[in-house]
Amino acid sequence: MSYSPDLLKGQKALVTGASSGIGEAIARYLALSGAAVAVNYYSEAESAQKLVDEIKAANGEAFAIQADVSKEDQIKAMFSQTLEQFGTIDILINNAGLQKDSAFVDMTLEQWNRVIEVNLTGQFLCAREAAKEFLRRGVQPQISSAAGKIICISSVHQIIPWAGHVNYASSKGGINMMMQSIAQELAPHKIRVNSIAPGAIKTPINKSAWDTPEAEEKLLKLIPAKRVGDVEDIAKAAVWLASDDSDYVNGITLFVDGGMTLYPGFTENG
Ligand code: BGC
Repeated sequence: MSYSPDLLKGQKALVTGASSGIGEAIARYLALSGAAVAVNYYSEAESAQKLVDEIKAANGEAFAIQADVSKEDQIKAMFSQTLEQFGTIDILINNAGLQKDSAFVDMTLEQWNRVIEVNLTGQFLCAREAAKEFLRRGVQPQISSAAGKIICISSVHQIIPWAGHVNYASSKGGINMMMQSIAQELAPHKIRVNSIAPGAIKTPINKSAWDTPEAEEKLLKLIPAKRVGDVEDIAKAAVWLASDDSDYVNGITLFVDGGMTLYPGFTENG
């Protein structure tokens, strides 16, 4: 595991949806890089606490905090508690997200709304609360050259259309425009807002796409690198975007997808 415990020393981070998958790995890597981490979860209290215990056992600082990212009152409460605990916040990882897949004509309004409210509205609510604190506090040069960093976890489906997943792809397309607009608005305040767009990463959300040899073989046709990604691939990118090593990077989407967005179907066609 490659990380530098001084890279994010003294920084305070909040990771949404950190009890499993990509969020969990990002929280772990931020902690290994020296940040104190608020581990947000929705329902998996035990997994969140396990991660907190692991971070603390390695002399890190962390606590678990429950909230549904789509609920404004819960997000306000989560930020107040985080500020109470940590004093301030430097890094927000907007990660919580879900899929509710359905053929388009059968998609219920409930399926549409839930995905939009968690994946997109949830990121809006958390980004807004984080930005308020970044603006209030401003730059602390001994901590970071930015007043704050927001990293939105998007998906290759912010640009790749996805049949059977119209709600999910729409939420991710929305994240891109939201991220860029916030970045444009807050850049003069030394706040950096970027996205990571993972491709197929081995997590519970897409287990059926890689957990049998047949499924994996089919999936690999979409990945020029011929490897399904690991959560660490995303965590390492998140640490870089959260650190001053990426100080001049603002408003980008970093695709971490083994080349999925190279449209490999065109390699010998078109
Ligand atoms: C989805 C996964 C999918 C991947 C590549 C992700 O955003 O959550 O289910 O495997 O995109 O299609």
